[in-house]
Amino acid sequence: MGTPLNISNDLALDLEQIIGQCIAILGIRGSGKSNTAGVIFEELLKHNYPLSIVDIDGEYFGLKERYEVLVVGQGKGVEIEVDVDCAEEIAQVSMEKNVPVVLDLSGFLSEERSEFLKAYLTALWNLAGKLRRPYIIGIEEAHEFIPQGIRTKLKELISRIALRGRKRGLGAIIISQRSAKVEKDVLSQAGMLFLHRVVHEVDMRVYGELLPWRKSEVKEIITALETGDCVYINRETILPIYVRERETFHAGFTPSLEVVVTPELRQVNQSIIEAIERAKVGKGKKSRIEELRGRLEQLEAVLAEKDKTIAELEEAARTLGYIKVEIPSPSPPNMQDISKAIVHSVEGGKVAAKAARSMGSVSDSVATRKPVASDPVIEAPFDEGEVIDIDELGSTNSLPQAVRQHIDRLVSRAAKKGILDRRILAFAVAHAPTSYSVRQIAAWTGCAQGVIEDDPPRDFLDMGLIVRERRSDGLHYRSNLKAFVTREFGIYKPDIGAQELHLIAQCLRTRLAVLGNAVIR
Ligand SMILES: Nc1ncnc2c1ncn2[C@@H]1O[C@H](COP(=O)(O)OP(=O)(O)OP(=O)(O)O)[C@@H](O)[C@H]1O
Ligand SMILES: [Mg+2]
Repeated sequence: MGTPLNISNDLALDLEQIIGQCIAILGIRGSGKSNTAGVIFEELLKHNYPLSIVDIDGEYFGLKERYEVLVVGQGKGVEIEVDVDCAEEIAQVSMEKNVPVVLDLSGFLSEERSEFLKAYLTALWNLAGKLRRPYIIGIEEAHEFIPQGIRTKLKELISRIALRGRKRGLGAIIISQRSAKVEKDVLSQAGMLFLHRVVHEVDMRVYGELLPWRKSEVKEIITALETGDCVYINRETILPIYVRERETFHAGFTPSLEVVVTPELRQVNQSIIEAIERAKVGKGKKSRIEELRGRLEQLEAVLAEKDKTIAELEEAARTLGYIKVEIPSPSPPNMQDISKAIVHSVEGGKVAAKAARSMGSVSDSVATRKPVASDPVIEAPFDEGEVIDIDELGSTNSLPQAVRQHIDRLVSRAAKKGILDRRILAFAVAHAPTSYSVRQIAAWTGCAQGVIEDDPPRDFLDMGLIVRERRSDGLHYRSNLKAFVTREFGIYKPDIGAQELHLIAQCLRTRLAVLGNAVIR
């Protein structure tokens, strides 16, 4: 046997049936919805069932006539004026300390109301997840918060409580005079309904979907309902009932000529009031400080991000300036520098070779060695290994500008690689077409053989400027410049022919050979 609730003489309802329930109370203005809701609240309060009522017309403070209910918010019957900062705190007090709360939001602007409810209901939802105790939330004028066809954060929250709150013990009482404007999903999932009188066709249609009657029957029965009458639906039970009148003062009564005296109201425990007041002062100030601190942190983060972007842009600008300075002018090439560089390159080779000979590590002078019969034959449409005719380079001016720029880009790219890689490349192109063993190259560059073996010039190998071959005496490197040029500059055909390709190779050979001698930034 459950705990019977005195709602209507026509209806036997137990308290247990309310737990985790989604209840809808619908009907036109003045049909008795708030009275019905008030009666249910009275019965729940009688049995200390914890609850919150979202009251946007300030009509539920009369419950205090009999019950210890905390009325907070902003409105006529409010005990403690609070704003959104305290919402979480109040929800906590209500749920943890079992304090019934009427949230009088009649004095809030709609935006504030929505913010308050979001904070309040989120806190209730989270707490219910931990506590899993019976708790119910009544929401007046629900169509404002869960409107059909419009998505809001608050609607999502209320719908979640109404549809999925049961497992947490959370129930909802949805009250609305605009049946057609309330989210259909919530109405269709409501386990218990009190359908008061409606007259409009759209509302009648909603009732038609909720009641298993013919359309004409629905209309006939519903239009005949009087104030306080409704059709009660709970699963298979469908019952026309009359809901008793509220025992406590109904501030939303329809005015009459009778003198209405506001009754004396009960106060909740003083300690609860003080707790809320303390929370209000503390939380309000704290949250303001926290809010400002949070804002400051946000702004600082934005500033830091901007500083970073500025630094990156400055770096990019510097790099661009640097590249601009570093890219050699495509024409005319500085003959003197090139000449000096080649001479230097060859001398460098001789010095290295001399050093290598004195160490006895290399049998031949790599710089002076002539290709022997065993060396691979390199076929070329132009002779990569021929002596560079410096004067001829002057004619790079005759190359199309795009080609000259392409050469510059390649040289610039090669110049950015490590010095060891550049030395190997410079050596290979300067001594093309002969291939040289790692041992020989190590002797020439003065670099340990193991270093070259462990750290080969991958980028130049990938670019195809040099190739690596395995022979009986180990790895060999040789220039692949002519094949590289044929492939890389083939795109400019037919603007250029074999003669131009030859010229490009000569130019590249000269400029790449220089890279092995100087520290290029
Ligand atoms: N069961 C009832 N018995 C007697 N009087 C009732 C009953 N239900 C409601 N009333 C009275 O009818 C009037 C309207 O009731 P109520 O405020 O509950 O209507 P409502 O549907 O909530 O209207 P609104 O949509 O305007 O809020 C009130 O004066 C109320 O006291
Ligand atoms: Mg009402």
